[in-house]
This record gives sequence, C-alpha cells and structure tokens, in this order.
Amino acid sequence: MLLEKLQEYGSSDVYPFHMPGHKRRTALGTDAYALDITEVDGFDDLHHARGILAQEQKRYAEAVGARESFFLVNGSTCGILAAVSAAVGRGGRLLLARNSHRAAYHALLLRALEVCYVYPQIGSFQIQGSVLPDDIEQILSADKQIEAVYITSPTYDGVVSDVAAIARLSHAHGKPLIVDEAHGAHFGFHPFFPESAVRQGADVVIQSVHKTLPAFTQSAILHLCSDRVDGARIRQFLGIYESSSPSYVLMAGLGRIVPFLESEGNARFERLAGYLKDFYRKSRSLRLLHVLQEEDFGGRAAVRHDASKILVSTRNCEITGKELYERLLRDFHLQLEMYAGEYVTALCSLMDEAEGFERLLEALFAIDATLHPREDKPDDFIRRTYSEKEQIMSVSDASERQLTAVDLEDSAGRVSGGFVYLYPPGIPILVPGERIDTAFVEDMRKLQARGLSPEGIDGHAIKVVC
Ligand SMILES: Cc1ncc(COP(=O)(O)O)c(C=O)c1O
Repeated sequence: MLLEKLQEYGSSDVYPFHMPGHKRRTALGTDAYALDITEVDGFDDLHHARGILAQEQKRYAEAVGARESFFLVNGSTCGILAAVSAAVGRGGRLLLARNSHRAAYHALLLRALEVCYVYPQIGSFQIQGSVLPDDIEQILSADKQIEAVYITSPTYDGVVSDVAAIARLSHAHGKPLIVDEAHGAHFGFHPFFPESAVRQGADVVIQSVHKTLPAFTQSAILHLCSDRVDGARIRQFLGIYESSSPSYVLMAGLGRIVPFLESEGNARFERLAGYLKDFYRKSRSLRLLHVLQEEDFGGRAAVRHDASKILVSTRNCEITGKELYERLLRDFHLQLEMYAGEYVTALCSLMDEAEGFERLLEALFAIDATLHPREDKPDDFIRRTYSEKEQIMSVSDASERQLTAVDLEDSAGRVSGGFVYLYPPGIPILVPGERIDTAFVEDMRKLQARGLSPEGIDGHAIKVVC
C-alpha cells in the first residue's frame, strides 16, 4: 500500500535532498485528519475570502510586500494559468521565456494565445541560464502586439534573471511582467539569497511554497503587486482553475509560513547559509566531479545563482548524471531531486541539517576517487536541443488537429502534435505546432542513450499533425 511505502521511506535513513521544503521535519501538532474540514461556519471560503483566510493571505502579502496574495492549493500551476489568462486577452500575444514550465504553455493552449519566445543564454556547463533584458527590449520594440511578458526566475537549476531591469523595460513598453518564481518562495528574507521578484517591480509573482519552504506539497501562492493586471480577473480565473474544495490542511500549512519565518526564519537562514558556504568551499577540491559555482551559470552575461540548489556536474568524467544519481542513492542513501544528462541536483532548504551536507560531501569525494576522466570531448547538444524551432501553427491550433503517431526516425519535416519535454524540469523541447527537424531526432536519440526518457515520445513513436 502507498501509505505503508511512504511510512517505510519516512523512517529509513535515506536523506531527502528533494522537495518538499519541509523535509518531513515539521509537525502540525495533531493528525492531519483532525484538521480536514470544508467551508463550515467561521472558516471562511477561499474563493470569496472575507474572514480568517483573508487575514492570513493579507499577512503573507504584508510580509513579502505584495498588494494582495492568493493562497493556491493546486500548486503554482493554477496560479500560472490564472496569471496568463488575466494578463492577456483571449487570442492575444504573450512574450514567453522559452525555458518556462509547461503550465505556461498550457495557458497558451487554453486561451488560444499567440506566442513570441525569448531564449535564455546557455552557460558553459550547458545549463539554461537567465533571460537577458536586452533581448526582451529588442522583441518588445519590434512587436507591438505583445500584451504581457512572462519569465521564470529562478529556474529549476537556480538561475536568476535581472527581474528589476526586465520589469522596468516591460513597463516602459506598457506591458505587465509575470514572474514564475515557483522555485524561489524563500527569496527576499535573507541577503544570502536573491531578492524576490515581488520587490523588484514584477506585476504578478507565483511561488510554489511547497518547493523551498516548510509547506505541504501543492501549496503555493500568487502575489499581485500592481494594478497593471486586474485583480478581479485573477480571482475569476482562479475560480475556474482551482478546486472548489480547497484543503484546509494545505491552507493551514500556508498560514504557518509567516509566523514561522518571523520566529525562526533568521536563525534558520543563517544556519543554511553557513552549511552551504562550507559545502561549496570544500567541494572545490573534487577532482573530476564539479559542483557548479555561481560563475559557471553565466553566458553572455554573469548571473546570480540560488545556492540552495546544488548542481553536481559529471561533464568531465565518464559517468552520466543518471549513474551518479543512482550511486548516491544505492551506496550512500542520498535521494537527490533529479538527474539530467550531465548533472544531478540536490535541493536544500531551511529544514536541512548538518548531517545531510556532511553525508553528501563524503559521498561525492568517495565516488570522485573512483572516477576516470572522460575520453571523448563533452557534447554541446543541450544548447541545440533547446534552440529555436520553426513555428508552423499556434499551440492551440495544433492541439485541435487530428494527430497520428509516426516513428521518430521518420518524423523530420512533420509538425509536432504534442509537447516533448524532460520531466523534471518540464520545460518543453518541442511544442505543438513546431516543425520537427533532423537535429531534434538526433538529440532525442542522444537523450535516450543517456538513460533519459523524453515525455511525448512513446518508445519510438511521436505524435504529429495529420
Ligand atoms: C519553473 C516551474 N514553474 C512551475 C511549476 C509548477 O509548480 P507546481 O508543481 O507547484 O504546480 C514547476 C514545477 O516543477 C516549475 O519547475
């Protein structure tokens, strides 16, 4: 049974370098069932909040500096759908950072939007980096039909864009800026971590509180920071995309965040900063494995990196990200968040203990000692995998068409009928309506050879428009 399996995992010695941010180290003081109610008298209604839920949301908004905050129980996903739907009229045009989560693409599909992409810079370790203000400026100057700008900062890998500059120039063009800050709910509370987009001029900011702070999975928040996006429309769309039976257990968990940060936040942030500084310093002595430092994430311009996302690159040695991930779990009982072709990610939070960092360092040094340098030259195909594709029709047009499955090998030249992405991180490589080219086919083969399974490719079959 799932329950028993979860209990077994919870009581094992496996250290969680993964979400949720509570790391199973907090308690409600009572059984969750005892708190699980519906909208009975005195407990307010999330969709028409006037009582205790309104007060808790207001408290959160004041703590982060937002005009208004909305608790979300369907993850950032429903906040992203609502933000895009509210900011761009049906059939309108969105400037979207291409490295965004698929939820933003689903908003395109649902609202029949046209899209124009800005591509992030890619750093020396083939990690998708920040979106550059100059690139956004160029697109906004050339395309007057765009109604809103949407970026993801930080990314799953912790790469932060210059939100303040992007907000300034979006506003100069009269457009609101939506920031997917799903991975940055802990930003803005301590100088060791970057400032939140809320205080940098973004108009709507969506955070998955569950990812990096001690809150239940699925608990998230949308911050409305200006009147450039209509709050009534945000409410209207949240009423459509979010459950009409929001969980009081999840909302109680969200309501605890501000009091928790007020009472213990500073001490815990100091402690985490100390662990991380020590970890990054010591890891510089690894021989072949490489823990990415802030300077490794820049491309054309330097970027800030959220140090709580530890990325360990296997680029200089003969093992893949998947092999490192498996060895860390099998031999050292360390469960990491994810692996990619050439790196693994460990997610850290305020709830981590010194033991975790010590065990991870020890394991990395032990593995490093057994590795051999890579003989072939590292391949830069990730840069190409996420590069520009030819858009033949809109996402929603392609999704409405009749589709057929063809062999990947025979698919070059056809128009994609579905999304192709690696999960995690859920960033589309190919979007419905884009032309499949021979480079894409080759890249999918390479990903599969590295033990990765791109979603949207079923064995060898891919869906294309008839
Ligand atoms: C960048 C980004 N945005 C949004 C989401 C969706 O967040 P949620 O799982 O809270 O719905 C994710 C999920 O992984 C993500 O990585």
